[in-house]
Amino acid sequence: MVIAVDGPAASGKGTLARRLAAYYGLSYLDTGSLYRATGLAVEAAGARPDDQPAALNAAQTLDPSFYSEDQLRSPGAGEAASQVAAIPAVRSALLEFQRNFAATPPGAVLDGRDIGTVVCPDADAKLFVTAQPETRAQRRHLEHAGRGDELSYENVLADIRRRDERDSGRAVAPLKPAEDAILLDTTELGIEAAFQAALDLVESVLNERGQSA
Ligand code: CDP
Repeated sequence: MVIAVDGPAASGKGTLARRLAAYYGLSYLDTGSLYRATGLAVEAAGARPDDQPAALNAAQTLDPSFYSEDQLRSPGAGEAASQVAAIPAVRSALLEFQRNFAATPPGAVLDGRDIGTVVCPDADAKLFVTAQPETRAQRRHLEHAGRGDELSYENVLADIRRRDERDSGRAVAPLKPAEDAILLDTTELGIEAAFQAALDLVESVLNERGQSA
């Protein structure tokens, strides 16, 4: 079974995807971390994230386990990720790994921007998780503060808006719901309520397809 969870920055998709994977006994892949690691690797090589040959080389030689969670989740890594992610050759280089991961038993939950549209168009269930930008910025601001990244709320909100715009506007695999995705707005929902809502939606899709857990 494969579940696709897409959505904009800090919408809560990572938390939901991780919990859905645990619930169904599936593997979990945070595809954003691939782009974040690629962005960091380009910068470590002394190039800019929009340098296409350097970014492609970083994607082709990527070792996602090289960077710590704190490095991957830093604001700079998010910005670099969104720049390398707009380069079509980088996306192609990372596609096979993601598809292989999804195809490996027992199946997986993947979260990202283009899982339901490009990486796993045949996923058994597709969620598109959204929330108001201000709510997303508050959540991300708290996350950064917890890691010791002292970024102001205003800066976090600006960063989220900039990335959303770049992710939605790029020519290849833009951020958008798949036609058969179910929308889940978590603006008014805490983590538990959002998980229950996500689970109910996934269960209803699986029941319709006759493959509930
Ligand atoms: O956690 P957050 O939503 O802020 O970011 P992320 O999911 O780790 O993704 C970081 C960046 O990687 C995004 O802004 C996208 O530009 C890019 N990305 C993508 O293009 N496609 C994916 N499947 C996942 C991430």
